[in-house]
Amino acid sequence: MRKNIVAGNWKMNLDYEKGVSLFSEIVNMVKDEVVGNQEVIVCTPAIHLSSVGKLAGSVKNVAVGAQNIHQAESGAYTGEISATQVKSTGAAYVILGHSERRAYFGETDELLAQKVEAALKHGLSPIFCIGETKEERESGRFFDVIKSQLEKGVFHLSGEDFTNIVLAYEPVWAIGTGLTATPEQAQEVHAFIRDTIAGKYGEQIAADTTILYGGSANPGNAKELFSQPDIDGGLIGGASLKSRDFVDIVKVFN
Ligand code: G3H
Repeated sequence: MRKNIVAGNWKMNLDYEKGVSLFSEIVNMVKDEVVGNQEVIVCTPAIHLSSVGKLAGSVKNVAVGAQNIHQAESGAYTGEISATQVKSTGAAYVILGHSERRAYFGETDELLAQKVEAALKHGLSPIFCIGETKEERESGRFFDVIKSQLEKGVFHLSGEDFTNIVLAYEPVWAIGTGLTATPEQAQEVHAFIRDTIAGKYGEQIAADTTILYGGSANPGNAKELFSQPDIDGGLIGGASLKSRDFVDIVKVFN
């Protein structure tokens, strides 16, 4: 049975003290709220990882993730961080393929495929993001775009490796804009993603894959989104920076 996940993506927000303090608040608020096969993940800037990783270690079903890694194991890559370094902090996940990395840092599907390999090799589970731009939605090409992102980014993996991937459907036009995909629009794409996985890896792996929705999700819309049959939780940006909002989204599964 697939996991339900609520993952926060703090992006480039919060200084060290504020981040550790927000994470402590979240842990205290969710420790008795995380139910059954649910997991809560907080993806922080690198500066917070080792401190919050230690705090997360003591709480069942709460984990920490990074927001990026370099594809190499180590070396002369000034300013970068490797999968082994992230793993050594206690983090279990890494966001890869976020549209902000694709758009502002030129990350291609081919590069992302290498980063996915590096993450898996060192025991990090990728939260792999896919999604179309506004123009791609309006032109009706979004299914092709999403299929291509899957094929180039993660479908080179063996079925066994693929089972360690969490997918996040994030329509770019809904990220940080206050525009949310309707539950029907999101469900349509999630069902398409699951069908596409079934075509590649078979029905069982498709049924077991967690697929998150991201894009202006908040306590007011999370319940309707997460109640769709193929939406298994959310990747939350803005609303993950307020403990009450984030925890209210976690509680949608209670
Ligand atoms: O990774 C999270 C997404 O980019 C969503 O961000 O909730 O601020 O729209 P948002």
